[in-house]
Amino acid sequence: MLKVDLSAVQSVVSVDALWNDAVKALEVLDQRTGAGNDFLGWLDLPEQTPEDLLAACEEVVRAWKEAGVNLVVAVGIGGSYLGAKATLEALSHTFSAQLGGPQVVFAGQNLSEDYHSELLDLMQQREVAVVVISKSGTTTEPAVAFRILKEWMEKRYGQAVARQRIVAVTDAARGALKGLADQEGYRTFVIPDDVGGRFSVLTPVGLLPIAAAGFDIRALLQGARDMAALCRKSTSENPALLYAAARNALYRAGKKIEILVNFVPKLQYIGEWWKQLYGESEGKQGLGIFPASVNFTTDLHSMGQYIQDGERTIFETVLSVVEPKRSLEIPIDPQNTDGLNFLAGRRMEACNRMAELGTRLAHIDGGVPNIRLEIPRIDEYHLGALYFFFEKACGISAYLLGVNPFDQPGVEDYKKNMFALLGKPGYEAQTEAIKKRI
Ligand code: PA5
Repeated sequence: MLKVDLSAVQSVVSVDALWNDAVKALEVLDQRTGAGNDFLGWLDLPEQTPEDLLAACEEVVRAWKEAGVNLVVAVGIGGSYLGAKATLEALSHTFSAQLGGPQVVFAGQNLSEDYHSELLDLMQQREVAVVVISKSGTTTEPAVAFRILKEWMEKRYGQAVARQRIVAVTDAARGALKGLADQEGYRTFVIPDDVGGRFSVLTPVGLLPIAAAGFDIRALLQGARDMAALCRKSTSENPALLYAAARNALYRAGKKIEILVNFVPKLQYIGEWWKQLYGESEGKQGLGIFPASVNFTTDLHSMGQYIQDGERTIFETVLSVVEPKRSLEIPIDPQNTDGLNFLAGRRMEACNRMAELGTRLAHIDGGVPNIRLEIPRIDEYHLGALYFFFEKACGISAYLLGVNPFDQPGVEDYKKNMFALLGKPGYEAQTEAIKKRI
């Protein structure tokens, strides 16, 4: 199971000084008495996800397979995208697309015309199914993308077959997507009312695309279940409590930026998912740790200088994977022109390990405290555990900070401007006002 190593934090700040407050924040979360407590359904997902939901996800995937589908397009943004994307990147063969492996790709996570036009080029070559994911059903990016994909699917397959190949994941009763799905007769999966987007990876939002890519959603939930049991403890056995207390102690000591570090490129999108989770949950009321991420050793050759030597407001949280899936030995070279024969016979991973350790020591010396999260291996079970761990720690951490982790008022501002600029009906006054500014 995942372990939290605070040995490089304790010498800088006292985590103990915050411990009682962290335990109180955990109690508020678990007893559901804090701000935003109508959005705590994610706490129950590991234990209460029904078997028939998992079976239904698997059945959809089986039906697509039988119909010859070899490309699933998942449409969604933010919390309706990042969990599935992170899981697929972490679990898939890095070159899965080139090797012709099962393919799930994404749409509606941006408004780029080039991206979506090129996606249509790919769809033209494949047998396609679409999963449209939006809790509100009104988010502009996926709604625009889905309009385009729906029209494309109906032209390519005819309305009746298109309807069988489109699945909607949305709110149980409200929202534009629910209305459209009912009208068209799409199969639908429900995002529970009390689960916010960034806490929804273990709902059909994540489960359906992850199952479509051929991964084991039961193992994912089992990992989350085992982690949920640990995360209820009010002792140092609770990794979420340790992490939340440590990062808040660092924040209070002036470390305002947290960089999530990986040494395995497969984890790059875990960093993106984590940034959304923590950024949207904590960054409000002029407060919050700024979440950033880097991919080492690649970014040691770009961001390394700043982290080692720039403004001292940073701490790192390192995702340290113990066991890679594969093994690669460094060969001997009789010429030894690069002088690397001292590495011959050792695994490439030995270099990665020493790069990780060397970087950790250098950054500690440079005034960058370091939380190390040890992950035994990257598989469904440990990802499920990691997701629940980060979610639970996020709730505790935001309560320690004194903010409601489950709202996102700041996300609305750009949307209002965009609608005003696009001339959305009902935004006439805002359109007039914003035109004067440009
Ligand atoms: O975490 C959140 O609530 C957001 O990031 C949403 O997931 C995102 O805005 C997409 O919303 P929706 O699923 O309603 O389209």
